[in-house]
Amino acid sequence: MSSEQQAKSDNRPRPTTDEFRSFVREGWAPRRSALPARAPAAPYAQARRATVSDRFPGERLVIPAGGLKIRSNDCDYAFRPHSAFAHLTGLGSDREPDAVLVLHPRGEADGGGHEAVLYFRPLAGRDTEEFFADARYGEFWVGARPTLEDVEAELGVSARHIDELRDALAKDAGAVALRVVRDADRDIAALVDQVRAEAGVEATEEVVAADEALAAYLSVLRMAKDEYEIEQMREAIAATTVGFEAVIADLAGAVERGRGERWVEGTFGLHARHQGNGVGYDSICAAGDHANTLHWIKNTGEVRPGDLILLDAGVEVDSLYTADITRTLPVDGTFTDAQREIYDAVYAAQQAGMEAIRPGAKFSDIHAAAIRVIAEHLHAWGLLPEGVGVEDTLNEEHGQYHRRWMVHGTSHHLGIDVHDCALATREQYLDATLEVGMVVTVEPGLYFKADDLLAPERFRGQGVRIEDDVVVTSDGYENLSAGMPRTSADVEAWIAAIRAR
Ligand code: GLY
Ligand code: MN
Ligand code: MN
Repeated sequence: MSSEQQAKSDNRPRPTTDEFRSFVREGWAPRRSALPARAPAAPYAQARRATVSDRFPGERLVIPAGGLKIRSNDCDYAFRPHSAFAHLTGLGSDREPDAVLVLHPRGEADGGGHEAVLYFRPLAGRDTEEFFADARYGEFWVGARPTLEDVEAELGVSARHIDELRDALAKDAGAVALRVVRDADRDIAALVDQVRAEAGVEATEEVVAADEALAAYLSVLRMAKDEYEIEQMREAIAATTVGFEAVIADLAGAVERGRGERWVEGTFGLHARHQGNGVGYDSICAAGDHANTLHWIKNTGEVRPGDLILLDAGVEVDSLYTADITRTLPVDGTFTDAQREIYDAVYAAQQAGMEAIRPGAKFSDIHAAAIRVIAEHLHAWGLLPEGVGVEDTLNEEHGQYHRRWMVHGTSHHLGIDVHDCALATREQYLDATLEVGMVVTVEPGLYFKADDLLAPERFRGQGVRIEDDVVVTSDGYENLSAGMPRTSADVEAWIAAIRAR
């Protein structure tokens, strides 16, 4: 089910005769009978579902994967499942369009808790029209889909045909509370509302709020990562390192070819797609003054000798966990004095931000520590207004002058979503304490636009950000991306070593 209809046109008809139908269904080798191995993510997904089950006893919980989305006319975007669905099933990459995970409450006599059932569109038989004629789902067009048995073996959940979903939701719908992750699939949300209405339950604000509470709970559930997730993050970071090193190896190519930012984007994207599922977000390949546009993803600019290039990019592995790393690189391999001055200030801020990370510290301490160092440098450079000191600008009610040169936050949670756990409240996020297993970025920057008349001339047109991915450990933190050099001297040595290969 897609929330949008694809345009139907008869301008490219595919004539089909009865003779062809009977011919195309015959003469195929038997389908493979071996079932897939249990997915490494399966036991972890099961443990997550058990946590959800404890929180919502007796309720029926509906977590859709979402549907295919039209890119144009009859072409879809590559599918990506909703993050809550991926987290609770262990499915990643492009699986499984239109699938719906339902946690059905079990009676006490059946052991209580919930039974997990995955409803999806399984492989169609060769005797069906779908087999050869359905360009969106058919085997001839998009390849063989898994069977119900395949998915049961792979994930350790029960699997049913998607056509059984409606009746399964309607069972005891008057007596069993239903909750759905509404934004995952509007068609499934509408189906749930319809089933509720038929059972005499209107989709009042209260009912919708209960749905939203489920979505928020599932978002926050992703905050502390389990060992499988940390391992996936390590793989994403290792793959990202390959992409960064490929970019560095061909910075000269980016300069020579023109439109070098696109060349950098393509080089990283090649490796992201080769090493993993793809990029976890559109790469920011920002040379010179473009680094001062925080989300510069147009990447239409030149990469010029003497400039810095800010590369903010991350590989998403097949399980959908993504890295989010920034390095700001001197295109020539050596920072100028002014570039190094900015870079070393950002590095000091990043180091201070990292050192604030330990269990029990507040999430907001990371930004507080980093931004203090930024403010101190701006003050030392004489950039804050006359008479404004570091404490004055850091005051949250007044001042905040330093934000002119670093307007963004220093940190965010990272995981299946690059900005993970987005539905957490301020209390659960900014004001919350850090716990072992949380993965966050530390990413201060300094941005001096070319037309900023308050910036020293030597800084204008240059922006620096350094971003690493850090896991909270029992005694502090581990920088998961420490394998990518960070200090100005180490970055220069890194570039030189790659060029010498
Ligand atoms: N790449 C987006 C971010 O750093 O948050
Ligand atoms: Mn980030
Ligand atoms: Mn980033």
